[in-house]
Amino acid sequence: MKYQLKTAAIQNIPCDFLIIASNNTKTLTGYAKEIDAQSGNHLSQSIKALPHLSKPGRFAVLQPVPGIKATGVVFLNVGKKATQDSLAKCLKKALINIKTFQPKNITLAIHDVELEEGKADRIIKRSAEVINTVFYCFDEHKTKKSPRLATIFVPSDKRMTNKLKLAFKQAIALANAMSFTKDLSNSPSNFCTPTYLAKQAKRMAKENTKFKTTIVDEAEMKKLGMGALLAVSQGSKEPAKLIVMMHQGAEKSKKPYVFVGKGVTFDTGGINAKGPDAMVGMKYDMCGAATVFGVMQAAAELKLPHNIIGIVSAVENMPDGAAYKPEDVITSMSGQTIEVLNTDAEGRLALCDALTYAERFKPKAVVDLATLTGAMLVSLGKVATGVFTNHQPLADDLVKAGMTSGDKAWQLPLFDEYQELIESPFADMQNIGGKLAGSITAACFLERFAKKYHWAHMDIAGTSSNWGGNRTSTARPLPLLLEYLFQK
Ligand code: BES
Ligand code: MN
Ligand code: ZN
Repeated sequence: MKYQLKTAAIQNIPCDFLIIASNNTKTLTGYAKEIDAQSGNHLSQSIKALPHLSKPGRFAVLQPVPGIKATGVVFLNVGKKATQDSLAKCLKKALINIKTFQPKNITLAIHDVELEEGKADRIIKRSAEVINTVFYCFDEHKTKKSPRLATIFVPSDKRMTNKLKLAFKQAIALANAMSFTKDLSNSPSNFCTPTYLAKQAKRMAKENTKFKTTIVDEAEMKKLGMGALLAVSQGSKEPAKLIVMMHQGAEKSKKPYVFVGKGVTFDTGGINAKGPDAMVGMKYDMCGAATVFGVMQAAAELKLPHNIIGIVSAVENMPDGAAYKPEDVITSMSGQTIEVLNTDAEGRLALCDALTYAERFKPKAVVDLATLTGAMLVSLGKVATGVFTNHQPLADDLVKAGMTSGDKAWQLPLFDEYQELIESPFADMQNIGGKLAGSITAACFLERFAKKYHWAHMDIAGTSSNWGGNRTSTARPLPLLLEYLFQK
């Protein structure tokens, strides 16, 4: 999918479908009004003949419409009280409908409708996301490829102010990064191994200036004392990789934003093997890593004016004669010892050494992203990402970026009382906290490794892929994270 700004008048853009919207079906506004005039009132007459359209959120596919170059018109009634959420919902329904016609190109001309929040730039970014959600397809491993939407045109006339042009650039970078994140996440683990992820990072360093990649291999991990990450890896034939990507968008002296991703390319549970139902979906246990890759790609594409570092703990969790076992005591890079009580609580072990490694960058803030606990699906479902922090303003920024982007997140507490649940009689801590508050005790574990900087943990187990549904990646919380960076 390629996005393209078109300077031609709206009626002269040749495409399969022209998508327009109005706040009202009685008096057409904006592009809808223009198309109505061009078509000799064909649009308003059609609308009149379709009384169901008067309800906000409804849409109609009209074909043919005289006087314009587009083969068909999709008219959305977004209502007077349109919000970006209601607009996105309506647009999504309409796009799913026209997808059955297998369009090659569409024109999106909806950025002139009014939102209650009054933010035209949000329409552009949110619709790019919706288009990606509806038209993205992963047929890499199918012998018969699906038809694809090739181009999305956006009219660039006097309504396209500089502010909107910037929003448009950001929207394209967001959509491209979402596709990249989805491709990595959807890739099966016999292709997407830690080594494969490391290769992606090296490729990005080759393709972008001011972008550096360093791969820490297992020999080097041993030297650094990364006993936790290595313990997870020891049952797998695939060597673990700690992938470090650096985008230099500001002076070297400026402190970087660091994003750390859980990259468990497959989580069998290890010796505490998961049952068959829980194991399907575990190729998505590297969605945190895939999101970090998306952030880094967008940072490079937009040349974001910040120093941004992505760290990925890429590892496979397998049972094997050499695998780590319950009651093993391991020593993390921080020096803290951990009693392993469940080998399926591997994400926190893979992450804790990456969090210690992050200290060397003297970060402005560290945000980790992890499909860490199934308990997240119980508490917040698939609606919101869980946020935990040791620095309240950071969590505030993230939750706010979630509200702004519509990619919602919600904070959960890290009260001291929860820390008691991971005390171990044999080591400094144990890697599980029992049945209660599973997402919080997992975050408490990570907190012990993030003492030296401002840190937030985002548990994306519920939001990053469509668990239990069609098992496809959502690329969340990429929209939230990019919004967070755009606000900096
Ligand atoms: N990767 C899983 C968490 C997960 C579960 C993500 C379902 C997405 C959907 C994680 O490694 C895990 O297995 N966590 C255990 C922790 C438990 C052993 C304390 C869990 O959630 O059951
Ligand atoms: Mn696990
Ligand atoms: Zn896992």
